[in-house]
Amino acid sequence: MEEWLPDSWRSKPAAHLPEYADQEELKTVEGKLRKYPPLVFAEEAFRLKKSLGDVANGKAFLLQGGDCAESFADFGAGNIRDMFRILLQMAVVLMFGASRPVVKVGRMAGQFAKPRSSPYETINGITLPSYKGDNINGIEFTPQSRAAQPDRMLQAYHHASATLNLLRAFSQGGFADLNKVQEWNLGFVAHSLQGEQYRRFADRISETLDFMAACGISAESVPLVRETPFYTSHESLLLPFEEAMTRVDTSSGDWYDCSAHMLWIGERTRDPKGAHVELARGICNPIGVKVGPKTQSDDLLRLCDILNPLNEAGRLTFIVRMGKCIEENLPPLIRAVEREGYRVVWSCDPMHANTQVASNGYKTRDFQAILQEVKSFFAVHQAEGTYAGGLHFEMTGQNVTECVGGSQKITEDNLAEHYSTLCDPRLNANQSLELAFLVAEVLKKNAQPSSASKILAE
Ligand code: PEP
Ligand code: CO
Repeated sequence: MEEWLPDSWRSKPAAHLPEYADQEELKTVEGKLRKYPPLVFAEEAFRLKKSLGDVANGKAFLLQGGDCAESFADFGAGNIRDMFRILLQMAVVLMFGASRPVVKVGRMAGQFAKPRSSPYETINGITLPSYKGDNINGIEFTPQSRAAQPDRMLQAYHHASATLNLLRAFSQGGFADLNKVQEWNLGFVAHSLQGEQYRRFADRISETLDFMAACGISAESVPLVRETPFYTSHESLLLPFEEAMTRVDTSSGDWYDCSAHMLWIGERTRDPKGAHVELARGICNPIGVKVGPKTQSDDLLRLCDILNPLNEAGRLTFIVRMGKCIEENLPPLIRAVEREGYRVVWSCDPMHANTQVASNGYKTRDFQAILQEVKSFFAVHQAEGTYAGGLHFEMTGQNVTECVGGSQKITEDNLAEHYSTLCDPRLNANQSLELAFLVAEVLKKNAQPSSASKILAE
């Protein structure tokens, strides 16, 4: 293997990076960022890797979710709380279904840079660069806003830092206490079908907790009842930003990208010879790689080799996003990875190959297609004798109307009512919880038919 440094990606072909008009300003911003404190501590990323190792070994389940693109404009305590809360609700439902701990990873506190299928957008005959995420440019369709602005990286840092601060407070300060399982159901979700189903489910959990407390296992005696590890992740797209946040951990001497606990490489930038893979190869964080319908086994094996030469369980997560062809295209990939003995986490992103344009022009996704892809993912793994380890969703804790279907019966006509995503359509809070209940049933059935599946279905 060639020598690696945080900037060695600069000599490789780099897709989807913005062009900055002012290179001097870019250098100044990079210099400032390099001096800013790390957003996460290397030891935390190491711990996440260990937990993902449990997922790779079939002992835990991964839930990763959040906005397609976080936004500076929507930044605020309410949004962070609602996302955290819905993720907790989903996690507790999935934990019950899987009878395993659920590793919680937000697409939060840094999901600000987006690859786009087209570098330009034309509206009324005017062509400007596409919006690439708040870390790079603005969504407003003007030449000034669409120009890549280096100082957005500093803003992204500060938004991520404040988001993480609140997430840490929530996860460790009492909000995530399992005894509050019923309180996570506040807000508009409580008054929906899913809210009702969740309330009955949470009653059972509370009953169990009372029993456990009587046995001496309580929030006082076991910290895991009172608090939960919660990790952050984003796509490692904007390499100047990621390089500046890459630091040596003084205790181990290892490099970590301290912008998030976990970083993933997108479907469009996972070229084994490319810059994005190069940066990821030298950092010790857990790494995700999106796996689309055209992925070749050889490329996947090559990525295992480059990104995980020591074959460490938990280092590499393949986030499969294949849409309808999953049943046909995933098995050969699983077999190739199994044949070579690579230890990876297989996670399912049922969002990215299920995007469609509604007749009224809105980009949307269909709840049923999302659910079907998840079911196929589990079925394929069951047939192959491998472990379906996790789920990756684009979702929000808000009451948006961006994906059609689900028990709320959102139709194409409803899309205009609350459509606020900056990029891809997200599951709303009800749809997310509904999906968690449906997946939990599948998990339970796959594990062992028991009275638990009845509780989930009640
Ligand atoms: C995303 O996760 O928002 C994304 C762009 O995904 P993919 O790289 O799988 O298309
Ligand atoms: Co997306």
